[in-house]
Amino acid sequence: MSEIVYLNGEFMPLENARVPVLDRGFIFGDGVYEVIPVYSRRPFRMPEHLARFRRSHDAIRLDYPLSDPEWTRLVHELIQRHGADDQSIYLQVTRGVAKRDHAFPKDAVPTVFAMSSPLSTPTREAIENGVSTVSAVDYRWQRCDIKSTSLLANCLLRQVAADSGATEVVMFRDGFLTEGSSSNVFTVRNGTILAPPKDHRVLPGITYDVVLELANNNGLPCEVRPVSEQEVRSADEIWVTSSTKEVLAVTTLDGKVVGTGRPGPVFRRIHQLYQEFKRTIMRQAA
Ligand SMILES: Cc1ncc(COP(=O)(O)O)c(C=O)c1O
Repeated sequence: MSEIVYLNGEFMPLENARVPVLDRGFIFGDGVYEVIPVYSRRPFRMPEHLARFRRSHDAIRLDYPLSDPEWTRLVHELIQRHGADDQSIYLQVTRGVAKRDHAFPKDAVPTVFAMSSPLSTPTREAIENGVSTVSAVDYRWQRCDIKSTSLLANCLLRQVAADSGATEVVMFRDGFLTEGSSSNVFTVRNGTILAPPKDHRVLPGITYDVVLELANNNGLPCEVRPVSEQEVRSADEIWVTSSTKEVLAVTTLDGKVVGTGRPGPVFRRIHQLYQEFKRTIMRQAA
């Protein structure tokens, strides 16, 4: 059975969803997107995801085409039409179809697209053994805080990891940790969790916030501050976080073992807290 997606006000089978080639999303990558995990048919941290979606629209001066209650209805409709309990909702808005010209068109109507896919969270093997990463210079633009569909640099950088069989790339800019190609990066040194601040160099991850909240609420020491490359390379633990990866331990960076080479004790604690938190939230929503 074909997946049902939403395009500009209508639900339709995925293969029927078509966008004109002059859509500025296709021509310029002129759009923004959001990914919301769904557990047991309930969206996780929906208000936070929608708040970030709105900020991305504001940052690229694009009208927010639906209200939050309308997005919420749309997300619930997609969840209902999809078979799986755990899903990943993708929302995308572009500046619409217009004659090719870099400056904004005066009267283009935003293209609104949404779909749901099965959520694929990390395998037990990845959680228990950790994943490998490679490093790269972060040569992306200066507005990495915008969740933009212009992802060429992220794709090129992820491919560096894929080429060497690694799961993710850990990026540094001017000697400091930024993030991964599609995840935030945490380190642990001497029992303290270190996270780079949410500024223009990183995407303000929803999972990043959850992890810091859980650490703070459970007495795990953490510091949000610039983290040097040297501190990452000599860290006891490194983790990557995202809506689909949740929290994953990194056990090698550029072929060199991180800490003991096994997911560390602070990772195991935060992973357990994250799973408990998910279950509690889902029970409360039921
Ligand atoms: C570049 C980048 N950083 C961080 C993240 C993590 O964000 P979240 O936890 O909201 O999924 C993502 C998610 O896709 C990302 O693309």
